[in-house]
Amino acid sequence: MKKIKIGLFGFGTVGQGIYQVIRRATNAHASIERICVRNLSKQREIQTDKSLLTDNPADILDDPNINLIVEVVDDPEASYRFVTEAIRRGIPVVSGSKAMIARHLPELIELQRKHSTALLYDASSCGSIPVIRNLEEYYDNDLLLEVKGILNGSSNYILSRVFDHGEPYSDALSRAQQLGFAESDPSFDIEGFDSLYKLIIITVHALGVYIAPENIFTYGISSISDADIRYAREKSMKIKLVAQVAKVSADRFTMFVMPEFVTPSRYIYSVDDEYNGVVIRGECYDRQFMFGKGAGSLPTASSILSDVMARRHGYRYEYKKMDYVDRPEYTTDVTLKIYMRHPGQSFLKDIPFSRITEQYTSDGYNYVIGEISLSDLIGIRNRLSDPRIFIANFPQFFLHLDD
Ligand code: HSE
Repeated sequence: MKKIKIGLFGFGTVGQGIYQVIRRATNAHASIERICVRNLSKQREIQTDKSLLTDNPADILDDPNINLIVEVVDDPEASYRFVTEAIRRGIPVVSGSKAMIARHLPELIELQRKHSTALLYDASSCGSIPVIRNLEEYYDNDLLLEVKGILNGSSNYILSRVFDHGEPYSDALSRAQQLGFAESDPSFDIEGFDSLYKLIIITVHALGVYIAPENIFTYGISSISDADIRYAREKSMKIKLVAQVAKVSADRFTMFVMPEFVTPSRYIYSVDDEYNGVVIRGECYDRQFMFGKGAGSLPTASSILSDVMARRHGYRYEYKKMDYVDRPEYTTDVTLKIYMRHPGQSFLKDIPFSRITEQYTSDGYNYVIGEISLSDLIGIRNRLSDPRIFIANFPQFFLHLDD
């Protein structure tokens, strides 16, 4: 078999991890020929032969010796340029750039078809957990009902430290950054956008439907307070940042990212620190659970290596489900039951709850629990960015199947 000669774009946390795992993986018959970085003089933990490094993308793209691009650049625009240029030239690409992929997936699929080459990106979603290839290949059936879980390691790390160890939120966030879990702008992690990008990619491979980020309700954990944590603890629950795509009828599905109250009987209750956990539910097999490290240099690099190996065997995503005639339609016309901490009754009067089931008011802490449609939540999403507000979802879908 032909040796894989890699041109690597990006040499940050994940890029340096890839350098290490490729050297260890003797069966891969792969070598890194060139590494393109933005800043040649930056100090890095991993020392390499200086001649490997370049700051000129053409040194990789124009090199006829290189037969695979691995792209882990921490800049979605640069990542888009490198990946699309490589595909146009017919060079296969392995990428971990979830924001870029989630924003451009329809175009990237089209480009792969037009130029008869492949883009693999299992590392973009859930770090070391092989969720994309499994959804694409094994779960190629009509039985899939729901994919739901913790898709962001940093926010889960923060919540674990705060819930289980009583650490201040800001200390936990700094530690997630030091450990190399967080994005360079950690607001992507804590505001739910990183989970959103992964959910979009997962939905393409689960249901064959692409939904653009701006059409999906996304709410993170940045305004969680001690009062919210106390509320959850008193009821023996944890709060986790959960992304979900769920079929709500035979021909419709919904999706969103939101903190959720999790009871001890749920698989994701015990998913702590930077681990991710994905529950896949089907009509005939009930639930299956995938668990593993969702962030960090080597776990993410191991997923990249797996895609590199898959390319040895000519593997590519076929996106078969996108051609199915009866793909389900996206809807936000679903009723959710949420907890909302709020600053007072005057704020609440414009919130379109269809039913309120519980209310609490005291000097410094007010909350309501009530039903509201997802489309109404989308309608008021700007108002929810007020730090005096925090919302969390009570799971509603498929509860009858779990009794
Ligand atoms: N910042 C991401 C996370 C890295 O915390 O999950 C892995 O995608």
